[in-house]
Amino acid sequence: MLSKCRWWRDAVIYQVYVRSFLDSTGDGIGDLAGVRAGLPYLKKLGVDGIWLSPFYPSPQHDHGYDVADYCGVDPLFGDLAEFDLLMAAARRLGVKVLLDIVPNHCSSEHPWFQEALASAPGSAARARFHFADGRGPDGAEPPNNWHSMFGGPAWSRVTEADGRPGQWYLHMFAPEQPDWNWRNQEVGAEFDRVLRFWLDRGIDGFRIDVAAGLFKHPQLPDSDDPEADARTRDSVNPLAWNQPEVHDVWRHWRTVCEQYTARDGRERLLVGEVSVPSAREHAKYVRPDELHQAFFFDLLSAPWDADAFRKVITEAMQDIAGTGSTVTWVLNNHDQVRTVTRYGEPATGCSGLGAARARAAALLMLALPGAAYIYQGEELGLPEVVDLPDDVLTDPIFRRTGSRARIRDGCRVPLPWSGQASPFGFTSGAESARPWLPQPSYFAEYATDRALADTRSFWHLYRDGLQLRAALPQLGEGTLDWLDAPPGVLGFVRGDGLVCAVNFGTAPTPAPVPGTPLLSSGPCPAGVLPGSTAAWWMSDL
Ligand code: NOJ
Repeated sequence: MLSKCRWWRDAVIYQVYVRSFLDSTGDGIGDLAGVRAGLPYLKKLGVDGIWLSPFYPSPQHDHGYDVADYCGVDPLFGDLAEFDLLMAAARRLGVKVLLDIVPNHCSSEHPWFQEALASAPGSAARARFHFADGRGPDGAEPPNNWHSMFGGPAWSRVTEADGRPGQWYLHMFAPEQPDWNWRNQEVGAEFDRVLRFWLDRGIDGFRIDVAAGLFKHPQLPDSDDPEADARTRDSVNPLAWNQPEVHDVWRHWRTVCEQYTARDGRERLLVGEVSVPSAREHAKYVRPDELHQAFFFDLLSAPWDADAFRKVITEAMQDIAGTGSTVTWVLNNHDQVRTVTRYGEPATGCSGLGAARARAAALLMLALPGAAYIYQGEELGLPEVVDLPDDVLTDPIFRRTGSRARIRDGCRVPLPWSGQASPFGFTSGAESARPWLPQPSYFAEYATDRALADTRSFWHLYRDGLQLRAALPQLGEGTLDWLDAPPGVLGFVRGDGLVCAVNFGTAPTPAPVPGTPLLSSGPCPAGVLPGSTAAWWMSDL
């Protein structure tokens, strides 16, 4: 009973980036009915649940991470009735559903921000956000030197009712995403209402955007190192992120979830997007009375190197598992360069290298103790689309920095489902229907119908890995014991004799211990672990 109730501890969740998953209306943008149509595909893949990227009413400046109404569905994606149908279908199939909640900021079109703009400085409406007077003679300089994560200053100036330039408001992301002031009681109360609205509709939990955000230093002082803040998209400004008060919010949200669990025994999950400087800081977010899980991004950012992987896995196991939670492994999401491309080394001229490594990494992740998240399209081995023309790019980072470096459109290109030409079955519209981002012709090779028909595909590797994970008691939650392995090779045992080994090098090496093969990420002769390959087997020892 206990383990059933704590389903999330080793769950594998598939991230559905709704606008790029499947389009049921023919407008070139994926939607909730498309997600419902795709559920049997995901069930067949074997994931435990889905996380839906934001589908709320939004002007879409940051593809829904700019929320204008937290309790609705944007007509682009459907309506509440369609959401309820999706929930019912997911429930029938036994697929859990997590929603993406965005508490750090809203949209500049949110009614409360509009009210703040129309109200005077010092008003109660402005107190829900961070409004401040500017510096310099005419208040023409921002109130402090903080940078936005999307480039440029973190402040924008408003025009007051009399038509004159007035106060500034804080936005740690785009100007269209004003930050909430969590020191204002009304903000927390409003989010309670939002949580209950969706929990009452039967969801299984929330993925929490920017969960180390929310509170800022109360005096909003200058940062000592604004240049460092500007150089990185990571949350490095210690005055704007990871303030101690945020933990009270997660304690409170946990109690809200537990109230629902107390009614029906079904545990609701809170998983945070937590970007903080160390595994130790990260662990604070998953203390027993806070978030259930927090994405562990160090695996995603580790270079393809056995020692680097071993270090991040060891730290995670020590610091996070030490809280009583499980580690939440992540190799990809809608903000990152796709795995196949990230692990590729074009300079070597070896085109299959990135794919081989991505397959090995997937098998490694699925063998680690804890939970795992998979971004849509990774199960197809989709590469990043690196040559999108400037005029189709939508990422606000591109607009605000003028740079293509680290933009996020290339991993968000709509999925190919079938056929030889775009839209590859993504949209139910005419052949001429245009997906919101153009799909390259080579996506034909990755279409789901081809992947399902080819037992050597990424899809089959993921499916087989997920099936074994569900069947073998050694996998999922628990501990791992490292094996002695040659340099460049990682090997560990799970439970009663299940071995996972990964060869990070390119030359073959003997398998660390003998045994019976279960699954490998590439061809694997008996007793040998080829380069860029991971394998699972049952040890004979
Ligand atoms: C993190 C989300 O994953 C990203 O897509 C978004 O742009 C920022 N948070 C701001 O909400």
